[in-house]
Amino acid sequence: MCRGIRRGLGSRFDMYVCVCQKITDREIRQAVADGARSLHSLCEQLPLGGCCGRCLPYASELVAEHSAHQRQLSADCCAPSFQAA
Ligand code: FES
Repeated sequence: MCRGIRRGLGSRFDMYVCVCQKITDREIRQAVADGARSLHSLCEQLPLGGCCGRCLPYASELVAEHSAHQRQLSADCCAPSFQAA
């Protein structure tokens, strides 16, 4: 399944998630880091889906994936660093 177009080879390059609006996975991850927690709130920040809408399922996956990653980072950060005896 095609999930976008990479600007270059390798994972350090951005990938177009929304080809119509030229929105990359990096921009979506940044929007999630800035507070977008749903596809709806993401679409309020970025003009995703305004044309064909093919980007929306993968954008939704990115929101869920990146939100889960951020929750895990917060949990790891706030977890007690000692073991009870
Ligand atoms: S790919 Fe996003 S609106 Fe067409």
